[in-house]
Amino acid sequence: RVAGPCGLVIFGVTGDLSRKKLMPAIYDLANRGLLPPGFALVGFARRDWANEDFAQVVHDAVKQYARTPFREEVWAQLAEGFRFVPGEFGDDQAFDTLARTIRDLDRVRGTGGNHAFYLSIPPKFFPQVISQLRRSGLSASEGHAWRRIVVEKPFGHDLQSARELNAIISEVFPPEAVFRIDHYLGKETVQNILALRFANTLFEPIWNRSYVDHVQITMAEDIGIGGRAGYYDGIGAARDVIQNHLLQLLALTAMEEPVSFDADALCQEKTKVLSAVRLPRDLALYTPRGQYAAGWQGGERVRGYLEEDGIPKNSHTETFAAIKLEVDTRRWAGVPFYLRTGKRLARRVTEVALVFQRAPHLPFSKTATEELGQNALVIRIQPDEGVTLRFGSKVPGTAMEVRDVNMDFAYGESFTESSPEAYERLLLDVLLGDPPLFPSHEEVELAWKILDPIEEFWAAQGPPEPYPAGGWGPACAHEMLARDGRSWRRP
Ligand code: BG6
Repeated sequence: RVAGPCGLVIFGVTGDLSRKKLMPAIYDLANRGLLPPGFALVGFARRDWANEDFAQVVHDAVKQYARTPFREEVWAQLAEGFRFVPGEFGDDQAFDTLARTIRDLDRVRGTGGNHAFYLSIPPKFFPQVISQLRRSGLSASEGHAWRRIVVEKPFGHDLQSARELNAIISEVFPPEAVFRIDHYLGKETVQNILALRFANTLFEPIWNRSYVDHVQITMAEDIGIGGRAGYYDGIGAARDVIQNHLLQLLALTAMEEPVSFDADALCQEKTKVLSAVRLPRDLALYTPRGQYAAGWQGGERVRGYLEEDGIPKNSHTETFAAIKLEVDTRRWAGVPFYLRTGKRLARRVTEVALVFQRAPHLPFSKTATEELGQNALVIRIQPDEGVTLRFGSKVPGTAMEVRDVNMDFAYGESFTESSPEAYERLLLDVLLGDPPLFPSHEEVELAWKILDPIEEFWAAQGPPEPYPAGGWGPACAHEMLARDGRSWRRP
C-alpha cells in the first residue's frame, strides 16, 4: 500500500495539530517508503513565510514529534517538495497563487494533478475555503486525476450545523472525495475491536444481553485544556470527544458483523447501531457532568478550569461528562452503555470494558467468594495497548478461595511490528482514496442527534459540578452508577 503520485495542501498549517501530528506523520510515511518519491506538501496560512521558513517549521516538528529516526536523505527528498503560500482565506489572489503552485508541482514533482486539501482550521472558515477551492478551480480534477477534501472535527456543533456543513461540502466535492477525520478510527487498538469480534469464534457468542451486564467506555485524560481555551470553551467534553471518538467506540462495540470491510458495509452497520441508541428518560440523573477545579497531579499543583488563561470566570463548559445510553436492538436490549470522559483525571487511559453478569450460582462458601467480582473483557485502547480478560481463579492454598485475576494480551509482547500513529494511517488512506476508516456524514449526523437533547438539557442547568484535578471525576458520575447498583472500573 504505497500512495501514487500526489500532493497534500494543509490549511491551518501553523496550528498545533499540523505541527504535532500531520507534519511528523508525513515524514514517517516517507521514511517508511509509503509516499511517492515526488510527494509535495503545500502549507497555506496567514504568515509571511518563504518556502524555506516553512521547511524549517516542518523540520523542527519532525525532529520533535516523528516516530521514526531522522534520515537526512529521506528528509532532503521530501523537503524539495515543500511550498508555502501566504494568504487569508478571503483572498482570491492567494488561492490563484495556490492553484499556480500546484500546477507547477505537477510539472516539477510529477504529482499528476492528484491533490488532497486538509482543513485543519476552525469550522467557521470551512465555507469560505471550500468556495475558494471551487472559484479557483482547485476542487475540480481533470482526466484521471483526483481532488479530495479532508475535514478535521468538530463537524459542526449540533445536528443543524453539521447538516449545513455537509451541504456546503457536497456542493463542491462528490461523496467519495470527502474524508472526515476521527483520529480514533486510525488507532490500531480501535481497528482491533472488529478483528477481536469477527476474526474469532470465542467472543461473539457471549457478546450480547444474555451474558453482558453492561459496557463501560472510558476516555480519561490527565492533561487540562493547555493552550486550547479558544477552541474548548463553549464546546466542552461531550462535543469534543463523545460526539465522535466515544460514539464511534460504542458503534464498533455494539454493531453487527458487516458483510465486508468496505466503507459502505461498515457505515451501514454503524448507522444501524447509532440509530438504535436511546437516551435515558431522566437526563438529570443519567448525564452527569463536571468541571475540573485546582488539584494535584503527578506531584504538581495544577490550576482549575476557571483559572486557565482565556477561560471566563463564569464558564459552564464541562470538562467531564458521562452518559448512560441503551441500544434498542435484540442483541443489546436492557444493557446499559456507560460512557465517560474527562480532562485532569487521575491518569490517561482509554478502554472499552464489557462487564459480564455474575455466575448464577456459586458452589463455594460465602466468605470465600466475597471478593469475587464480575468477569470482564477489557479492550485497552491506550496507553497500555492490549486486551485483558478478568475472571475468578482459585487462590493457591488449602481453602477453596476464589479471587479475580487478569489474563493479558499486550501489543508490545505479541508483535514486533510497531503501530503507525493514527494520523499516519489516516493520511495514507486519504492519499490512497481508501475510505473505511472515515465516518460517513450519516454517522456524524446520528451522533449529533444523540447529543443534541443532552446539550440542550445542560444549557438550561446551572454550572457543572466541580471535581478536583487528579481524581476520577465528580461525585455525580459515581452516584449515577451506584444508583444502578454498579461502579466505575478503576483502570
Ligand atoms: C481530540 C480532542 O480529538 O482528542 C482533544 O479534541 C483530546 O481534546 C484528544 O485531548 C485526545 O486524543 P488522544 O489520541 O491523545 O486520545
